[in-house]
Amino acid sequence: MAKETLTITDNRTGKTYEVPITEDTIKAIDLKQIHVVEGDFGLMTYDPAFMNTASCRSAITYIDGDAGILRYRGYPVDQLAEKSTYLEVAYLLINGELPTQTELDKFTQDVTHHTFVHENVRTFIDGFRYDAHPMGMLCATVSALSTFYPEAKDVLNHDIRRQQMVRLIAKMPTLAAWSYRHHAGMPFVYPSNEVSYSENFLQMLKRIAEPKFEVHPEIVKALDVLFILHADHEQNCSTNVMRSIGSSRADPYVAVAGAAAALYGPLHGGANEAVLRMLREIGSLANVPAFVKEAKGGSGARLMGFGHRVYKNYDPRAKVIKRLADQVFDLVGKKSPLLDVALELERIALTDDYFVSRKLYPNVDFYSGLIYEALKIPVDMFPVLFAIPRTSGWLAQWEELLLDKDQKIARPRQIYTGYDERAFVTMDKRTAAPTKG
Ligand code: SDX
Repeated sequence: MAKETLTITDNRTGKTYEVPITEDTIKAIDLKQIHVVEGDFGLMTYDPAFMNTASCRSAITYIDGDAGILRYRGYPVDQLAEKSTYLEVAYLLINGELPTQTELDKFTQDVTHHTFVHENVRTFIDGFRYDAHPMGMLCATVSALSTFYPEAKDVLNHDIRRQQMVRLIAKMPTLAAWSYRHHAGMPFVYPSNEVSYSENFLQMLKRIAEPKFEVHPEIVKALDVLFILHADHEQNCSTNVMRSIGSSRADPYVAVAGAAAALYGPLHGGANEAVLRMLREIGSLANVPAFVKEAKGGSGARLMGFGHRVYKNYDPRAKVIKRLADQVFDLVGKKSPLLDVALELERIALTDDYFVSRKLYPNVDFYSGLIYEALKIPVDMFPVLFAIPRTSGWLAQWEELLLDKDQKIARPRQIYTGYDERAFVTMDKRTAAPTKG
């Protein structure tokens, strides 16, 4: 019977070491025993951007990047998109099981009755310039919620922790909608307890003076499906931030603010906004070949919405969103003129060797922006619509970290490349350092 171990020979010393293999991994700390001289630090792994490092053990989301598989707590995301609702999926991510009707009703009622924010939040938002990006407002206001709930610091208290999780899931749509309303110079619309989670967001975003806000149920369903598809994605960049901040036992409000800040980046959740700007920049089918040439040219230009660290196959979420786009276009009676440009970009990327050899397929962000555009949601709100549903995933991962006995405060090591010790130089002896390029 083959041994579940790795035998390592250090050719610097001729010594061999036996390291156990568990769950297809070795523990990096087991390499520390490998020394050249007694007392030196021992061997470390060097893995910038964690390309081949598991930071945790998690039971929440499973991705098979080669097979294009995505499951939340074992359930395929396309089945959840078709048969579930966002709040039901948020419950599943956090609790590990689909809720009974009673459990779902209680969770829905809890979330529905925590959608209001302290009136002071209005003054925070009023303090932003009219053209402030809504993601900047969202990061600031969700962090500010930390100051209203000081008890949230007691992160190891189950009941207190769960109360903050409900508050955050409930209040993100309110903060998001109010950020947009400030941006648009429109009065804030307060949450309603009479409608579903996704419809409530739409009415806070869109309602003007009509006595009753009306929206097609299929539009509400489309947004709810988008929320489901964006709810979690294992150890992505923003979840890594949520876990890292959580590992210092900071409260969940500032942790979500940090995670949202990471999501804002154009290589991550900001990609959906970047995709729309890219499609608008391309403008027409005639300009696609030149743009693709530039994206391949190594100038740093990228096809936003293509490629993924894990998926080396079509992102399963993109498949669902592409089908959803057609449904929404039928509903709104207008296909985005940018859809043809998107389809041509996809056609080229799926056949051009540069993209095929690098396994660059459309990801979750490629088509979602076209739907948001069809729903007349402004492009700078797109990352905000990613942050709203991802809050339940961030919180599920955060709680799993806090309860994981393997975990402690995150504190990576480094390879030091700086100066050796040197003596202080008094001002009179200093010369200007050559300016770096
Ligand atoms: C999300 O991690 C998650 O799970 C994230 C997410 C989630 O749900 O949380 O799935 C959400 O963030 C989706 C990704 C959205 N980002 C974009 O669409 C931005 C465009 N895509 C890329 O920048 C890129 O593909 C990443 C950031 C998504 C992944 O980058 P990697 O894994 O670090 O790969 P890389 O940058 O090292 O690229 C490998 C090669 C490079 O070429 P070579 O150096 O080999 O010559 O592929 C090229 C890159 O230049 N490349 C692209 C490209 N993406 C990678 N070239 C053109 N267009 C692209 N989009």
